[in-house]
Amino acid sequence: MKIRSKMKSTSALLGVAGLTMAAMVFAADPGASSEQKGVESASVEAQVAGARAATSDNMEAKPKASTGACNPCGGCNPCAAACNPCAASACNPCGGCSPCAGNAEPGEPSGEELRAAYNGLKASMQASYGTSGENGASEYQEWQIFNTQPYRSATHGGRLVNNYANATAAAYGQFEEAGILPVGSILAKDSLKISAGGKATPGPLFLMEKMDAGFDPENGDWKYSLIMPNGTTWGVTGGKNSKGIKFCSDCHIAAEDFDYLFFMPGEYRKE
Ligand code: HEC
Repeated sequence: MKIRSKMKSTSALLGVAGLTMAAMVFAADPGASSEQKGVESASVEAQVAGARAATSDNMEAKPKASTGACNPCGGCNPCAAACNPCAASACNPCGGCSPCAGNAEPGEPSGEELRAAYNGLKASMQASYGTSGENGASEYQEWQIFNTQPYRSATHGGRLVNNYANATAAAYGQFEEAGILPVGSILAKDSLKISAGGKATPGPLFLMEKMDAGFDPENGDWKYSLIMPNGTTWGVTGGKNSKGIKFCSDCHIAAEDFDYLFFMPGEYRKE
């Protein structure tokens, strides 16, 4: 089995600028202070590291490095410079890992609660995304879903997300063994937020569609799209706001050995 550590070393050098930009776009709340954005950007890096570690065979060397920003063995090792508690990083106790923030382990709704919240919302989410007219947006919920419950994705705005793949992309379910997905593959990641009071609201839809060879060879010919909860298309590779959406491929390129796919943390995978 291929392991994450085989990833090109360029991934380790992935530009922080790109990640920060992504975090700013995803922060999306116009009122968010620059400090909050900083917090999110730091947790983005931790999540990428966590996502890789979660799928690595190298689990002995990093026994618990799998669960993201708040894992003391993960990106937020308190001994690491980045995790100085006084810094505006993901480990700032007032930041993303604050037990009061409702987005860390303590106080996180159970898998059951998250599934229930999502089930109550998903039909209206698809109806709304569908008005964008983007491929897959009006039907992705008929496809296979590959996660067992909504899980928090720091790299997609800290939202709770799900991963679907159309029939052409069925091999996605083999995760790191999937190989290069065929032209016509579409992967859909929808998202939601749950407030401290338990109210669920839809987030954006993230799409990747495998296009014909030559569409964007440097990025595996994937077309990325971001659709807002109201069905407005925010950006599409090679289309509307193509420059704006480039941060998707700038991060996914770190997984170029896996056809630009990261898959989900091991604990949420449907086997
Ligand atoms: C900072 C890194 C980063 C950025 C930016 C990013 N992604 Fe991802 N993406 C990931 C990671 C890590 C995963 C898998 C884990 C997860 O779901 O959090 C993933 C998973 C996905 C998946 C499921 C397919 C897969 O790779 O397993 C889709 C679809 C997706 N992203 C679309 C997008 C789109 C569209 C954008 C831009 C709007 C985007 N992503 C921006 C890191 C990123």
